[in-house]
Amino acid sequence: MLQLTRVSKHFGGLAVLREVSFTIERGEIVGLIGPNGAGKSTLFNLICGLARPNTGAISFAGRRIDGLPAHRVCALGLAKTSQLVRIFPGMSVTDNALVGALLRTRNIRQARSIAMAALERLGLGHAAYLSASDLGLVDRMRLELARALCTEPALLLVDELLAGLGPAEVNVTLELLRRLHSQGLTLAIIEHNLGALMRLCGRVLALDAGRLIAEGSPEAVSRDPRVVESYLGGAAGDA
Ligand SMILES: Nc1ncnc2c1ncn2[C@@H]1O[C@H](COP(=O)(O)OP(=O)(O)OP(=O)(O)O)[C@@H](O)[C@H]1O
Ligand SMILES: [Mg+2]
Repeated sequence: MLQLTRVSKHFGGLAVLREVSFTIERGEIVGLIGPNGAGKSTLFNLICGLARPNTGAISFAGRRIDGLPAHRVCALGLAKTSQLVRIFPGMSVTDNALVGALLRTRNIRQARSIAMAALERLGLGHAAYLSASDLGLVDRMRLELARALCTEPALLLVDELLAGLGPAEVNVTLELLRRLHSQGLTLAIIEHNLGALMRLCGRVLALDAGRLIAEGSPEAVSRDPRVVESYLGGAAGDA
């Protein structure tokens, strides 16, 4: 479904991604881990068209997508939630979600009904007419997901959705992601909460300093000596 071939990205003299290659198959939940600054968010930005790789190729559903602008990539069925949840605070919850639906239709009534359906799917239907600024952290997270779902993705990239959530809220979110997956959504998830990731993902990729250093089952990757050294600092080898 998604294929990266020797993708590199540098900002000025700083090499942020170095020859990263991997594939994601339809129906997978793939985790992406790595220490702060490893290049995880940059990788997602390249995939969804917010930035272009310097070298290498990215294909989605059999089409080359590197170099396409983000709205074109999104129209092909590839969406991303951002690490910092951004809401339009003066607007209602529905209107915030509706922004995503405008990619699919210019008809506002149709967009509104897509938005309502997405909010219902995420258990946020009851808050549809509230101001988005009145939402708590978990509901903002739901809204971020709803906005992405409104673009009708086949593959959703999720960048650190769990940051700042307590254990109960993390469980609620994992359940939501599992439900979306069971409804046919393929997921790639950046997450520092390794425990959560292990419970969710079938496969994990580990980045360190812009290089893919390990790939495999959550158990295997979390025991990989290079991952333990780079990411877990040696202290959490049994995580
Ligand atoms: N637009 C940019 N211009 C210059 N440097 C950048 C830019 N975006 C990211 N970087 C640098 O690239 C490196 C990787 O950043 P990135 O945000 O991809 O890391 P990350 O793995 O997502 O980290 P975190 O876990 O903290 O979110 C960092 O050194 C960062 O400072
Ligand atoms: Mg990041």
